[in-house]
Amino acid sequence: MPTQATPLLVSTAGELREATSALLEDVGTGDRRASLGLVPTMGGLHAGHAALAGTARRTDDVVVASIFVNPLQFGDRADLERYPRTLDADLRLLGESGVDVVFAPTLEEMYPGGEPLVRVSAGTVGEVLEGAARPGHFDGMLTVVAKLLNLARPTTADYRAYFGQKDAQQLALIRRMVLDLNIPAGIEGVPIVRDTDGLALSSRNRFLSVAERRAALVLPRVLQELRERSLDGLPLDLAAGRARIGAADGVELDYLDVVDPLSFDAVVHAADATAPALAVAAARVGAVRLIDNIALSGPA
Ligand code: PAF
Repeated sequence: MPTQATPLLVSTAGELREATSALLEDVGTGDRRASLGLVPTMGGLHAGHAALAGTARRTDDVVVASIFVNPLQFGDRADLERYPRTLDADLRLLGESGVDVVFAPTLEEMYPGGEPLVRVSAGTVGEVLEGAARPGHFDGMLTVVAKLLNLARPTTADYRAYFGQKDAQQLALIRRMVLDLNIPAGIEGVPIVRDTDGLALSSRNRFLSVAERRAALVLPRVLQELRERSLDGLPLDLAAGRARIGAADGVELDYLDVVDPLSFDAVVHAADATAPALAVAAARVGAVRLIDNIALSGPA
């Protein structure tokens, strides 16, 4: 497998195609088809992204990561402007994770026709939970992911793209998009990476003060307790969980629900249910919106 300490940085679709074709030509896979793994990101990278890239590295012959802060998926201009832009550190992390090529396009390269007229619609799943809190977010996210999947798609190799399970609704929508639009890419979900205190890693955690960070731990704690009760066959008390999160200092609960992991419809969770269910939560802590989730059965 080709690995290099510093990934090749490209910024146009043509350079990306050229770089990946050359790398794919060089890999000797015997009778097996070569494969390309894509790790789409918005930069501001952390160990959660390293896990995505590392999984791709272990699975695919050629690994591409993209870094593009997609304005289409930000409703709030201030949120877009303060989104961390840390290219040098990102390149180091991606190099250490074995990424071969980093595609970091400009806004003009990604949207050559300006503001796109034609977009992907997230449908009803895009209107609940995160979609309700951030109108238009999932349409913008799916539109850019469809474009990235097209831009990095190899002509002769197998193709997979990697996304974190922390953004569970995003992952479910991407899976549904490739099914509904016949996009020939395998979609791989990679488990949430948590800090030692249990907080799910997020590019936005850097904006939490020490006190806010401490308060934010109520989210993973409540979710973990729901999972433990579920595994023990005990009924879940969502109202008590919501009250606990809402009572934490400086924490404003948006939602705590149990949903079907594909449709994101709320489910009444029976402790002995065999159907997979996901406990999902979102809260504002200071100026930061945090999301988290946990599976109520099977691996966390
Ligand atoms: O999860 C993210 O970082 C973004 O939503 C994604 C998938 C890179 C699309 O911009």
